[in-house]
Amino acid sequence: MRRAVFEVPKPPGGGRQGAMSLIGDLFDAPSRMTALDPLASRAADVADRLLPGGRVRALLHGRPFRHPAHPAMAFVPIGTSLSALLLDAAAAVLPGGRALHAPARGLSAVAAASAAPAALAGWADYTQLHPDQQRTAIVHATGNALAVTCWTASLVAGRRAPLLRTAGTLVAGAAGALGGHLSYRWAAGANHAEHLPHLAGDGKEHVDVGALADLPDGELVQRRAGDAPLCVLRRGGSVRALADTCTHLGAGLHGGEVRDGAGGPEVVCPWHGSTFRFDDGAVVGGPATAPQPTVDVRVVDGRVLARVDAPPQP
Ligand code: FES
Repeated sequence: MRRAVFEVPKPPGGGRQGAMSLIGDLFDAPSRMTALDPLASRAADVADRLLPGGRVRALLHGRPFRHPAHPAMAFVPIGTSLSALLLDAAAAVLPGGRALHAPARGLSAVAAASAAPAALAGWADYTQLHPDQQRTAIVHATGNALAVTCWTASLVAGRRAPLLRTAGTLVAGAAGALGGHLSYRWAAGANHAEHLPHLAGDGKEHVDVGALADLPDGELVQRRAGDAPLCVLRRGGSVRALADTCTHLGAGLHGGEVRDGAGGPEVVCPWHGSTFRFDDGAVVGGPATAPQPTVDVRVVDGRVLARVDAPPQP
């Protein structure tokens, strides 16, 4: 018997509430489509090879802005294509409204052109996502490519142009909603360490995380402040720490490497190489855009006391 690639679960209880929950199930469905894995991983390899590295890659991630670039750049194609749709709708209902098709055409051209830089930023983020996130992202990207195809075709389509523009915008809307689901439900692009100061007591007081003598010299180790994991580095009598969960995608920083940067010791994340300065949590390398929550450390009578600061210091 032929097996379905994925199944959308039946709504519990049926009725309107069940139908509403189907929306979330539909958006979740791509993450379970394992048949997409060969394509998704090949696309990641190709994107990683083709996209420039260094400062351009940092710019595509949004590191200089300390904010992911992709959602901000998607604003232009979404805004212009939606405006074109409204103009086409007005042209259809207003007497003498046909003149509105011309500006709608111009807006569609802007939407198609501005999708390119937004897509580059999206592909830069895509290369490091987990497989379940990449499955959703590849469906999101396919929808956007289809939308751009419609907008571009509309430029030479004559009487069918408004139809193509509208179809492109509707597809882009669905793909955009899936992109939002990828961020909110699957936490792609989210800050994975935002909650740690709250777990540690909202920066109100220092807590004892152990004896100084128990910390190995020059090595990263994990300790806990309340329920918050810390990445701790001792060098002689001096102790530094950061929240241990990487803001990028949640790896434990204590599994990474220490290096000495211009602003003091830094930790390099073991998963994708984001690099954070111990003294202020700043991102100095890699794909992360959010700084790491900082930890104020004191050594009193041979005990190490730590307080996770909230929010992260600029
Ligand atoms: S989890 Fe990606 S750089 Fe740390």
